[in-house]
Amino acid sequence: MAMPEPFPAALVDRRPDRATITADVLAGLSARPRTLSSKYFYDARGSALFERITRQPEYYLTGAELELLQQVLPQIAAQVGPQARVVEYGSGSGRKTRLLLRALTDVVAYTPVEISRTALLDSVGALAVDFPDIEMLPVCADFTAPPALPPARRPARRTLLFFPGSTLGNFVAEQAVAILRGMRAAMGPHGLALVGIDLDKDPAVIEAAYNDAAGVTAAFTLNLLARLNREIGSDFDLHGFAHRARYVVERQRIETFLVSHSEQVVHVAGHAFAFAAGEAMRVEYSHKYDDARFAGMAVAAGLRVRQAWDAPGRMFGLRLLQPA
Ligand code: AVJ
Repeated sequence: MAMPEPFPAALVDRRPDRATITADVLAGLSARPRTLSSKYFYDARGSALFERITRQPEYYLTGAELELLQQVLPQIAAQVGPQARVVEYGSGSGRKTRLLLRALTDVVAYTPVEISRTALLDSVGALAVDFPDIEMLPVCADFTAPPALPPARRPARRTLLFFPGSTLGNFVAEQAVAILRGMRAAMGPHGLALVGIDLDKDPAVIEAAYNDAAGVTAAFTLNLLARLNREIGSDFDLHGFAHRARYVVERQRIETFLVSHSEQVVHVAGHAFAFAAGEAMRVEYSHKYDDARFAGMAVAAGLRVRQAWDAPGRMFGLRLLQPA
């Protein structure tokens, strides 16, 4: 009996290796405030915890985006047209992807660009079953520095870049513009991008979303330390730090920290880092946008907002972008 081909045959694998992560962590721990990158949240457990966050009652983002998407997808499909190639940055669970691939006509290929290999393979494996006519071309990589997209077998009429979830919000403006500029290059002159952004609103609503009562977000943040201990041999004390997320109104962002309970020393690759009691290590930003700010970033990246949709109560926004 023929063995099934190892799936997927075409994986482009640029997963960061131990040396890269170690160098990144050493640099971040040497900075002030000390910093760890939120991109390392997403190991298998981190991805599972994030999925649980999306089902917490306080975390309005996912529900608002899913409902809005469902409502406006016919309009989006009309603008994208048939035989598009779909590229997604940070593929996650694939719930939104399913809606998009179902709404578009005769999609040629789907390329998720995702740093977590388990999340990537799980999601593309399930999608391949549901969409047997769409060529799956996954790329395991950091989407802030994506490799060239693997060529599709069938020619595509245009590229649609899908960047949902307000993941863009994890980046400061300068980095966000660089990512958008990279998207403009990847989509080509006739391409489009569909970007999900969380909108600025009542700080209490935003803050609750990052401090859910069940403590899932706290577990998600702390899992970063467990992941680093396992993968680069650091010795963070998982009980020595506490999750803290605050909305900073004038910067329009959630700032998430891991706060050291006490004076303690952490070791990474032969280096010792002394934490003071109460010292806050920065692990994530989640920016919230208003129209002027987001449109300004798009323009700075050589893009323009072609159409904008907001969920009821301006809870979340979708923006369709095209080259300026
Ligand atoms: C997946 C990056 C969009 O910033 O809202 C959720 C991650 N962090 N709760 C966000 C997250 C804490 C999430 N993104």
